[in-house]
Amino acid sequence: MKNNQLTYHNQIVPYSRDELVAKLKNALTDSRFQHVLRVEQTAMDLAERNGVDVEMASIGGLVHDYAKQRPDKDFIEAIKTYHLDPELLNYGNAIWHGVVGWLFVKTELQITDIDILNAVRYHTVGHQFMTPLEQIVYMADYIEPGRNFPGVDEARKITFDNLQAGVAYQTKQTLSYLVAHNKPVFPQTIVTYNSWVPGSGIE
Ligand SMILES: [Fe+2]
Ligand SMILES: [Fe+2]
Repeated sequence: MKNNQLTYHNQIVPYSRDELVAKLKNALTDSRFQHVLRVEQTAMDLAERNGVDVEMASIGGLVHDYAKQRPDKDFIEAIKTYHLDPELLNYGNAIWHGVVGWLFVKTELQITDIDILNAVRYHTVGHQFMTPLEQIVYMADYIEPGRNFPGVDEARKITFDNLQAGVAYQTKQTLSYLVAHNKPVFPQTIVTYNSWVPGSGIE
């Protein structure tokens, strides 16, 4: 199904897809908004293949980067207001827009579905336990058609063959990249690695 042909029926958000799309368009630069639409479509394709609700996949894909363009001060304030782990203050937007950003999705977009909120929360760092929807948003963000990095075609093939192998592949690549470039590793990323990569059977 094409994303622009989808009508929401399940009352997961208290408004239509068009209204949700308008909220995202308003919150994001055009290039990021286009990325979000591609993630939505890729998430819907993966949902159809994996027996996951396409409406949930659409919403998860659309909202995953909702907080990406917020100023740092919004995240720092939220970390303090919600008494989140102060260790978070040592990181930045790349981690915050998921790990903290889900709180803005909940309060500002009136989305209370825990599966969607966790899909936003874990889309950058993963989690030891991820539901099929969370796996789908994590992978759709990585392999949407606008992505262009060495290995992306292999990542797409693996993911469309086997969603969980895709999660293992991305997790391994991300950790390898961070280590190779002397970048800090958010502790949750290591937890995700230990849960998904050893024994996964990927190369
Ligand atoms: Fe993101
Ligand atoms: Fe994204």
